[in-house]
Amino acid sequence: MTQINQPNKFYVTTSIPYANAKPHLGHAMEFINADVMARYHRGLCGDVRFQIGTDEHGQKLFEAAEQAGEAARPFVNKMSETFSRLAQDLNISHDYFVRTTDDAHKLGAQKLWQACQDDIYRGEYRGLYCVACELFYTAKDAANDCCPVHPNRQLQELAIESYFLKLGKYQDRLINAIENDEYRVFPGLRKNEVLSFLRSNELQDLSISRPKSQLEWGVEVPGDSGHVMYVWFDALANYITTIGYGYNADELARWWPTDLHIVGKDISRFHAVYWPIMLMSAKLELPKALYVHGFINAAGGVKMSKSLGNSVEPSEAIAKYGVDALRYYLLREIPSDGDGEFSLERLGIVYNSDLANGLGNLVQRVASMTVKYCNGQFSVGDSVDRFKVDRFLVDCAFDHALDYIFTFVRSSNQKIEESKPWELAKSNLDAVAELLSGLITEILWVAKALEPFLPETAAKIQATFMDGRVDTNVGILFPRID
Ligand code: MSP
Repeated sequence: MTQINQPNKFYVTTSIPYANAKPHLGHAMEFINADVMARYHRGLCGDVRFQIGTDEHGQKLFEAAEQAGEAARPFVNKMSETFSRLAQDLNISHDYFVRTTDDAHKLGAQKLWQACQDDIYRGEYRGLYCVACELFYTAKDAANDCCPVHPNRQLQELAIESYFLKLGKYQDRLINAIENDEYRVFPGLRKNEVLSFLRSNELQDLSISRPKSQLEWGVEVPGDSGHVMYVWFDALANYITTIGYGYNADELARWWPTDLHIVGKDISRFHAVYWPIMLMSAKLELPKALYVHGFINAAGGVKMSKSLGNSVEPSEAIAKYGVDALRYYLLREIPSDGDGEFSLERLGIVYNSDLANGLGNLVQRVASMTVKYCNGQFSVGDSVDRFKVDRFLVDCAFDHALDYIFTFVRSSNQKIEESKPWELAKSNLDAVAELLSGLITEILWVAKALEPFLPETAAKIQATFMDGRVDTNVGILFPRID
């Protein structure tokens, strides 16, 4: 029996990075963004599904394997593993890691193709192709036959036999759905970008296959063993192939539609235009929302790149400052509605000011004074009546949420400076006990609010102030690092 969609569930996905190279900070940020949303919703409704994974087909992958002197399969196995490890190192709480080379995924992608059959036809495609984007460009987009996204990359002139997906017939419906937030694309800037693209261009049908003579590394087109699917058709299908599409209607009804897709600005068109049209064609519901984040650049706003020597590996930042410090930086310092900058030096500055001198110092001082003046005992007051961070998280405004939470860290540290418990202790220990208990109540509110953002830190703070007695074994949260 098919279940009705559950109102109290939350299904969140990241994009699935290409497994052609090791993960970078942009991938780390996307995982962390989605992790905050998953953890937050687990606290609200419990029934959460959080999916990440790797995109393992296409010409780019195939070329990368060749360059590494390996066959595609062992190559993607190894690269996919580096993304799994990154997720583990970042304390990501995903429920499922999809790989597009999984048999179940491939079958699901073929079923989706069949469901779109009425809008698919065979023809010839001529155009300028960018292997890095896995996308055709028109001469209008491509000055000097170079890719608009990868300016140093010469586009290849290609004429191929291809299957096409008709897009035009869904254009008006899609514009409506995005306009009225049936499919909510945010922040507003991204919604406007997509809408102006949709309003000012008549959508060209999308080439969705490659002849095997050109590329074999992909999912075979159902009913035509001479073609594989275009990597984006295969990859976008991941959001449904893992939740029962084509084999378990109950499971599909339980999770679909996605509550939130999280992707970067360079791939918003795939998620805001092609994906919803594939779904409409297959007679599936549209996703509920798409959050489009910006890019992380190096200091000075320049692109991070190995050759410029300004790129930082996530593992390097974690090794030096710890996982929660990296989470904090990427959530707080990269604006949720635009691009941001990263360098180890900036991470160090933010670490020392906000985490070591701010939160860490507050917890440390309050814990040690409670031990010194109150034998480690305290009583927690009524929980602070304050609005939760929902209002920021509906917009994935992680930076504003942390900014809000940290105002209470600052005000608590200020309260200590002003009330000088060490002076007060000479004359009035009861007043000190009251003051410290008030501060601990405040700190526990902060810890609760931080759970989705900095899970390890939140747990350590809660363990320090558990059951009315300070536990001094938890250790220093953020030692100063110079
Ligand atoms: N494989 C496709 C996604 C398919 S989803 C069905 C892909 N992979 S990717 O590895 O190129 O990018 C994965 C994600 O990382 C994208 O959301 C992309 O926007 C993001 N980022 C890539 N570089 C980035 C930065 N420098 N900063 C932040 N995010 C960036 O596209």
